[in-house]
Amino acid sequence: MAEKRPTALITGASSGIGAVFAREYASRGHDLVIAARRTDRLDALAAEITASHGVSVRVVASDLSVPGAAKKLATAVGKTPIDVLVNNSGWGHIGAFAAEDLDGMADEINVNITALTQLSRLFVAPMIERGRGTIINIASTAAYQPVPNMSVYAATKAYVLSFTEALWGELQGTGVTALAVSPGGTATEFFDVAGGRAMSGGLMTPSQVVATAMSALDTKSPPPSVIVGSSNRVMAMAGRFVPRRMLISVAKTLMKSDSSRH
Ligand SMILES: NC(=O)c1ccc[n+]([C@@H]2O[C@H](COP(=O)([O-])OP(=O)(O)OC[C@H]3O[C@@H](n4cnc5c(N)ncnc54)[C@H](OP(=O)(O)O)[C@@H]3O)[C@@H](O)[C@H]2O)c1
Repeated sequence: MAEKRPTALITGASSGIGAVFAREYASRGHDLVIAARRTDRLDALAAEITASHGVSVRVVASDLSVPGAAKKLATAVGKTPIDVLVNNSGWGHIGAFAAEDLDGMADEINVNITALTQLSRLFVAPMIERGRGTIINIASTAAYQPVPNMSVYAATKAYVLSFTEALWGELQGTGVTALAVSPGGTATEFFDVAGGRAMSGGLMTPSQVVATAMSALDTKSPPPSVIVGSSNRVMAMAGRFVPRRMLISVAKTLMKSDSSRH
């Protein structure tokens, strides 16, 4: 009997980095479960991937801002063993904290933190039981310092980084690994949703983000986290040695918030 293909579950595959992760795992012979709210986009991606890679792709409509959404997604996945979970869904809002919308903030925290944590919990236990699996959580370079005018988003990503690295520590010796991936500004729909401009400097491509994640995972001993781009790595490391007030003012300057749009 032919061996069953491994399966990757990817949230937020309807655009940007998530869609590239979907193509990458399909090219590596994985069946896919792809989830997001925009199922028209997911259906188009599923058709493209099925035609180009011959793997099976299931589309699941999922709004991860809704309480209970992680459990609902796991129920939709059913008995299919998940070998790779990519917690990629996420969004942020650019603007002064004092003007933030209460429901919007809760939605952001639900998607970026609650759903990511619950999905990790739901899928890690069966991975440990099977003695293999990978959880990729998408953090951000915003995780490495507070970011004025994007305070909630940066704080959610600091959570993702800390949580994922701790999980990596717990998983040592289980055959399962967790990796936090921190892209800097990347050319996706992120800044359209965020309602502002990109941070200073050129944008990277989603393919660069995925290539960095995959090369970290392809090593014999994958690290707990990776930062995409050498200048971003230098900035994040340098930030450890800079006084906090200086770090925050540099982040504020780089943010270039366009507050007139909010
Ligand atoms: N682009 C950057 O500069 C950058 C930098 C650092 C980190 N990141 C992180 O990278 C990840 C991917 O973002 P991206 O850059 O690829 O941006 P993107 O093109 O806007 O993609 C975001 C994805 O998240 C999904 N999503 C948003 N809200 C959701 C919800 N309520 N329920 C389910 N899915 C939801 C979207 O799907 P639907 O709208 O169809 O639901 C979409 O597929 C995010 O976690 C983001 O924070 C991005």
